[in-house]
Amino acid sequence: MKILIGCDHAGIEMKEAILPVLRELKVEYEDVGTCGEDSVDYPDFGEKVAIAVSRGVVERGILICGTGIGMSIVANKFPGVRAALCTDTFTARMSRLHNDANLLVLAGRITEDNTAKEIVRTWFNTPFEGGRHQRRLDKIRQIEERLKSYESSKP
Ligand code: RB5
Repeated sequence: MKILIGCDHAGIEMKEAILPVLRELKVEYEDVGTCGEDSVDYPDFGEKVAIAVSRGVVERGILICGTGIGMSIVANKFPGVRAALCTDTFTARMSRLHNDANLLVLAGRITEDNTAKEIVRTWFNTPFEGGRHQRRLDKIRQIEERLKSYESSKP
């Protein structure tokens, strides 16, 4: 599986900590930055990863900022992106089983690096459960379609 991973300055340390886990899981990744210590704006990096997931260029993505909140807000603006802010292995597991999350968001200033590593392992190893959860995802897709038609029918 090919993914994109991105972060702001508050997520660099955690990103460095989880890259070896991606290699261990044989997940092919491209790091879109940021790579330095300088303060940057999380929407710039969130957009790079989320647009690629939205367009199907990559199957999944990972984004990291301080709280994970900014990256979640950005990523969930993109149609077809189901970004999940996961703070433990339970939320990681549920985000895959029930939400088929395709973008994992981590909180670099809150979650311990070792917990983040476990979250990543769990997130990649847990399949989507389907069934009644697929019906709910279909409804999310329908909401996206309705939003598009509201926009195009604006006077
Ligand atoms: C950066 O200081 C911080 O605001 C950012 O990493 C993130 O937590 C935003 O939601």
